[in-house]
Amino acid sequence: MEPVTEVYALLQQLDQIASQADLQEMLSRLVYLVAEITSAKAVMLYLPDEEGLHLDPAASSGISNRFEQASIPIHQKGSVAAATFIRQRPVFTVSAKDDPRWLEDLSFLGFNDAQKVLSIPVHLRDRSLGVLQVVDFNRSEVDKVELICSRMASELEQAQNQRTNQDQVERLEALLDNLGEIGTTLDRDHLLRMIVTSACRLLDTEASSIFLMDELTGDVVLYLSSNMVQPPENKLRVPPGQGIIGFVTQTGETVIVNDTSTDQRHYPGVDRKTGTITRSILAVPLLTRPISLGGGRGVVEKRIIGGLEAINKKQGPFTEKDAETLRIFASQAGTVLQIAGLYNDANDLFLGVVKAFSTAIDAKDPYTEQHSERVSEFSVIIAQEMGLSAEVIHHVRIGSLLHDLGKIGVRDQVLGKPGKLTDEEYTEMKRHPAIGDEIMGLGYPHGLSANQILPIARIVAVADVFDAMTSNRPYRDALAASFVFEHLQKLAGSHFDPECVQALIRAYEMGLVHPQGERAS
Ligand SMILES: [Fe+2]
Repeated sequence: MEPVTEVYALLQQLDQIASQADLQEMLSRLVYLVAEITSAKAVMLYLPDEEGLHLDPAASSGISNRFEQASIPIHQKGSVAAATFIRQRPVFTVSAKDDPRWLEDLSFLGFNDAQKVLSIPVHLRDRSLGVLQVVDFNRSEVDKVELICSRMASELEQAQNQRTNQDQVERLEALLDNLGEIGTTLDRDHLLRMIVTSACRLLDTEASSIFLMDELTGDVVLYLSSNMVQPPENKLRVPPGQGIIGFVTQTGETVIVNDTSTDQRHYPGVDRKTGTITRSILAVPLLTRPISLGGGRGVVEKRIIGGLEAINKKQGPFTEKDAETLRIFASQAGTVLQIAGLYNDANDLFLGVVKAFSTAIDAKDPYTEQHSERVSEFSVIIAQEMGLSAEVIHHVRIGSLLHDLGKIGVRDQVLGKPGKLTDEEYTEMKRHPAIGDEIMGLGYPHGLSANQILPIARIVAVADVFDAMTSNRPYRDALAASFVFEHLQKLAGSHFDPECVQALIRAYEMGLVHPQGERAS
């Protein structure tokens, strides 16, 4: 063939290869073409990994499968492939076996007796895209190899951009999935577990640990590690500034240690506690964003509340992208943890106020000491026996504590009167449930429908009468539970919900209900 015709035919072949949609198929055909044209003993194509840290095997011809493990650190001195990639200049030798520069690349692949070897860069403008190496080949075809490399550069660039985009999309999707999941709970223990599990999944690591700051001492406390079944009773405390986690929580910086044997900062007690031998660590601070509380209560400031560690990445070293992913995750996780803390504090405060209130109500009437508390206890037992949801049971607990709230509007002389009430006093006494309704008003726990409020009222009605009848009174002794059950069953269907009455009787028979009259005083 005429040289011009030959080049034209080659370009046509390359166009066809370039139109191949599957990247791996395109690379294989490219390498095969080079091997065919140059009659080479072997051809290797290396492409950089996403981080630009290694040249990884991409396609080859005439070579054992050892090539698949031939990952070359780009900044490693003494590798021809790495030098070709960085300097973007070809390297050629006529006797590789006598040239120590080639030993690194070739002896691993078993080419100890290679002679003519060419290492040629693939690059577009200033961007290095890969390295092609040709072993024991027909030297007169070098020009064609160069032509092939320059013709295919734009395809390689496109393919690499696509791979980077694909990778970013996948990382983002995984991040969103895991962030979505940790937003579904305000239960602290559950949340801590979700955070360590998500961290492992996001970065594909063997383990992950979460540390929280002790605000009093400044210690960093190991709360949970992914391979602990339970949060430990005796929590490991790392003094401020100590170890990697102490540094991260003090400075807010990220730390990557890909070989803990070369870095003495890892706090030794942690491995004993978590039962993991740490080889590599990525540690980031747990941050909370500023949280606006609303209602004129200001803002909880942004701060570091702890740290998150990903331990022992299963494949390859921790990268900058891993660090970025974990930082974003940890800042969101920290914020959710903080909100959960605020919610639980508010809840405890609310429950405390309700209990104080119910004690105050009972104290107004000397005969009903701890009545509200017992009604609440019985109501919760009935609700549990009826198999109601935890959410409804929570409202049963609160609602029953406040069921006698209306007594606040009844005069003390009337409530505490030992003898018979006058008609006028009796009317005043009867008003108390209505006063209670007025005080509670529409402020009843939101989110409950009428269908859910109804069972609460029915349950409390049964528990209320049961406690009143089974408690000692100055004018009579406590009535026996069996007698009260008979009374309740008679009125079941007309005054009381039969299901609630049955639930109470079952719970009593199981020994779960202790009426005041049966309790040792
Ligand atoms: Fe009551």
